[in-house]
Amino acid sequence: MQNRKIIIFLIFLSCFVASFAFNDSASNLSYFEKSESNPESVAIQIEGDPFTTMMKVLTHKRCVNCHPAGDRPRQGEDSHIHYFGVQRGADDHGVPGLKCKSCHGEENNIYSGVPGAPEWGLAPLKMAWEGLSRVEIAKSMLNPKNNNGRTLEETVKHLTEHELVLWAWEPGIDVNGNQRELPPIGKEEYIKAVKNWAANGAVIPEE
Ligand code: HEC
Ligand code: HEC
Repeated sequence: MQNRKIIIFLIFLSCFVASFAFNDSASNLSYFEKSESNPESVAIQIEGDPFTTMMKVLTHKRCVNCHPAGDRPRQGEDSHIHYFGVQRGADDHGVPGLKCKSCHGEENNIYSGVPGAPEWGLAPLKMAWEGLSRVEIAKSMLNPKNNNGRTLEETVKHLTEHELVLWAWEPGIDVNGNQRELPPIGKEEYIKAVKNWAANGAVIPEE
């Protein structure tokens, strides 16, 4: 009699344990299914509203150093004028004899500290962001007169996929061997914020 009780108890116990194990693997499975079929379903925490998150990146020196108001690129964490008398030139890619490409390669040079990415060059003057507020930058970015006639969709694509934009999260080391500062928002969180902002009507607040 005693034995039977123990056996029943053990059967009960093993069902109990199995149901836990099964539950666990089932929920793991659905998590993987979700993330494989739709990577966007993986939640990324966004602090604050998407516009604020997005503009923390656009106003950062990794972007603004290449979107200057004058004819000279800017460098470094203090955004000093680019050394060697470098100027934007007629096509924003340098003057004859001192083209951006003569120093900047397709990728960062880890030995010399010269940053690089394909088609390295300055944003045209009409896309100058230096000295503008975050609201002014956003307005300029959506203004067809300044943005080469890009639609909102094309602007989102540029903001989330363009190589010069994404370079900001892999800026490499400077000539002194120090890591360049990253934008204050992680790349995935930024991309999510840009898409959320656009999907919700690309509203630009008052300031
Ligand atoms: C004579 C070589 C040379 C030329 C030509 C040159 N650069 Fe540079 N550039 C450098 C070096 C070296 C650095 C890194 C400086 C440092 O790490 O302090 C640099 C850094 C930069 C940075 C700083 C990135 C950051 O966020 O700190 C920008 C922006 C830049 N260059 C843009 C340009 C543009 C645009 C052109 C063409 C109009 C250009 N450069 C032409 C050598 C050059
Ligand atoms: C190496 C220089 C460089 C860096 C760094 C850079 N940009 Fe640009 N940016 C450009 C150039 C060149 C253009 C013009 C390209 C074009 O119109 O196709 C441009 C254009 C743009 C535009 C289109 C502007 C408009 O008015 O529609 C956006 C948006 C932009 N950049 C965002 C960024 C962001 C965000 C960052 C930083 C995360 C960044 N850029 C960093 C060079 C740079």
